[in-house]
Amino acid sequence: MSTPLRVLVSAGPTREFIDPVRFVSNPSTGRMGLAVCAAAAAAGHCVTLVLGPTHLAVPAGVQVITVVSAAEMHDAVLAQFDACDVLVMTAAVADYRPATTATKKQHKTGAPLTLTMEPTADILMAAAARVQRQVLIGFAAETGAVLASAAKKLREKHLDMIIANDVQCAEAGFGAERLRAWALWRDGAERDLGLADKSALATFIVAEAERLAGERMQDVNI
Ligand code: CTP
Repeated sequence: MSTPLRVLVSAGPTREFIDPVRFVSNPSTGRMGLAVCAAAAAAGHCVTLVLGPTHLAVPAGVQVITVVSAAEMHDAVLAQFDACDVLVMTAAVADYRPATTATKKQHKTGAPLTLTMEPTADILMAAAARVQRQVLIGFAAETGAVLASAAKKLREKHLDMIIANDVQCAEAGFGAERLRAWALWRDGAERDLGLADKSALATFIVAEAERLAGERMQDVNI
């Protein structure tokens, strides 16, 4: 086994509340991130998981911090970031939240309802701004120009590697056991991973995290 790493993983959706009984969210289950945690723990790494709302069980030996909103996930990830060697952001973080959250249930009026949404902070961007030795791995859930869009995110978020996945592939996507996936690296390398089982993909991600962290540690020592 390679040197144990401190691996920080985010998983699941976030919920952005409109009022105490309604929220905006997405269909992420957290399954991919939980698979990464299981693979990293099985490889002997020290794993911390920042987890949005899900009904799935967390693998044994993983330290869990539960969160609900994108703002909570942002604060929890950044609070753990300086101490980690690798950040794997599998979470489907909401990009927008209601500009205001009502403290009381909003009753229906029969008239159309318009919600004003404001952007949430990008967690990977914030992490990239304070990187020391950490390896950054992101996910890109895409429809359409999957590789071009993932390559743009890899560049703009200063990632070491991104896993692109086509969420419109009939046999894969949110909640499914498999992903139609590609890996893209900072140096321009690219690999088609085909229709990948989430646990096999998690093993691949952990092996890459080990390799990239090994390279980073050599760079830091030079
Ligand atoms: N991500 C993040 N903070 C956000 C939104 C996304 O750190 N506020 C991370 C995700 O966890 C993922 C990567 O950024 O690892 C790409 O997320 P994705 O939803 O595919 O893309 P976005 O950056 O949100 O861009 P867009 O919605 O325009 O596709």
